[in-house]
This record gives sequence, structure tokens and C-alpha cells, in this order.
Amino acid sequence: MEVVIVSDAAASGTLVAGAIAECVRQRPNAVLGLATGSSPLPVYRDLERRVKEGSLSLAHCKAFLLDEYVGLSAGHPQSYRATIQREVIDRLDIPAEAVLGPDGSAEDLPAACAAYEEAIKAAGGVDLQLLGIGSDGHIGFNEPVSSFASRTRVKTLTAQTRTDNARFFGSEEEVPWHVITQGVGTILEARHLVLVVTGESKADAVAQAVEGPISAFMPASALQLHPHSTLVADEAAASQLKLAQYYRQTYETKPSWQGL
Ligand code: GLP
Repeated sequence: MEVVIVSDAAASGTLVAGAIAECVRQRPNAVLGLATGSSPLPVYRDLERRVKEGSLSLAHCKAFLLDEYVGLSAGHPQSYRATIQREVIDRLDIPAEAVLGPDGSAEDLPAACAAYEEAIKAAGGVDLQLLGIGSDGHIGFNEPVSSFASRTRVKTLTAQTRTDNARFFGSEEEVPWHVITQGVGTILEARHLVLVVTGESKADAVAQAVEGPISAFMPASALQLHPHSTLVADEAAASQLKLAQYYRQTYETKPSWQGL
């Protein structure tokens, strides 16, 4: 895993948007994996800047969301589909129909999960998957002890995640208990994983994911198994990493042609 330590959230946005732009330059019809939560927002804002200045177009790309709440009414402002509509589709030039997410309002949820896996496969898999990390180490909504072989399925949120995500809802009671998420196994099939993380509250999870043992108890530690995974952390999120100085030096001396 490559660990890149940046000064702040804005710098994480510029760096990761640059990697996405390069991916799309090489493959204009790239398949992107989108994440929700606050961490990827600076990435979306920098992509928006590039699209508006004309140096990037996502018009031929496809995108897949990582996860979705179960049971929110269609168009609920906190559904991940609505969030991606606001943050990405309405502001960049990717066509709405090219962006798919798990259907959390399906009557037959297992069938919706299987159909989602098929859709990702039919698109040729994900080229670059953006990820955030929960304070308990979840990626997507794969809570602790999610199997590393798991596929898209229904999960139950931990009390911690419902508390963390209550800020987006009126109250904690309104946060759904159930979600659909790409499995850890699904996520690991993307060709490049880019996890963006900012803030002191994630420092412990980051240290465990990067430098701790590979364990289903810490779902983000699955990135250690991936041949091309990048973790971009601000100083606060990186503050508990033992080898922080080594990661800084490695990045500073990295040949520029390598990219992320
Ligand atoms: C949610 C999402 C995750 C995201 C996490 C962290 O639980 N399902 O994909 O990584 O929030 O969000 P934030 O970046 O807002 O801390």
C-alpha cells in the first residue's frame, strides 16, 4: 500500500482528482467507483473545477456507488443516490444514467444485490475506486467482521456508525439500521483503490488499517491485500502512523512519472 500524507483536505482533493483525471485521460470510458461521506467531497470539488475549465470530461465514463441505505423513500435527500446526484451528477458532466447504485428500496433485496454485482461485471469492473473509512474501520458499509470474500449484500450498521452518520439526518433514530454495500471482495476487484481520510477522529482506524494485522475486525486492513492501493491522509489522520516519516520520504522522492 502507498501512504501519502498531505497537509489538509483540499490537498487530498487536488491529488486524488489528479489521479482520476489521469485515469480518464488514459481511458476516456473509465469505470469509476464513487464514495459518499464527507472525505471524498474535496475530490468532487476539484473534479468539478477541472470539468468547468475544460481539462477533464467524464461524459463517457460510468460510475458505481459503493453503498446505499435500505428503506429510505425514493429521492430521500440522505439517500446516497441523492447525495451523488447533488455532489457529482448535477455538477460534473457524467450522464445520470451512467451512474448506478444499489437499489435500497427494492422489494427483493438479495435479487437487487445480485443484479448490482452483475452490472459491475458487465461494465468490465471498476478502474479506480474511491473509498472513505468509518471510525470503526468500515469501507463502504462493510462493518467489522465483514468477510474479505463478501459480495454486495445487506448489512446491519453498528451503533457507532449510526451515531456517526446521525449528523446527516434529523436524529439518530432516523438513520436506517440496514444498508446494501458492495462486499469487501467486490471492492478488492477494482483495479486501483484510493482511500481518502481526514481528521484526528480517524487516526486510530488509519493506523490499524495500514500498520495493524489484516483482520476482518478492521475491514480497511483488506487494502493490504490489494496490489494497487493508495491511502491519502491529512496530517491529523496520519498522526498515529509509526512509519509516517518513511511514507513522507518515499512520496517526496517518488519519480513523477509513476503517478499515484
Ligand atoms: C459512511 C459511508 C462510508 C464512508 C464513511 C465515512 O458510513 N458508507 O463509505 O467512508 O461514512 O464518512 P466520512 O468521510 O463522512 O467520515
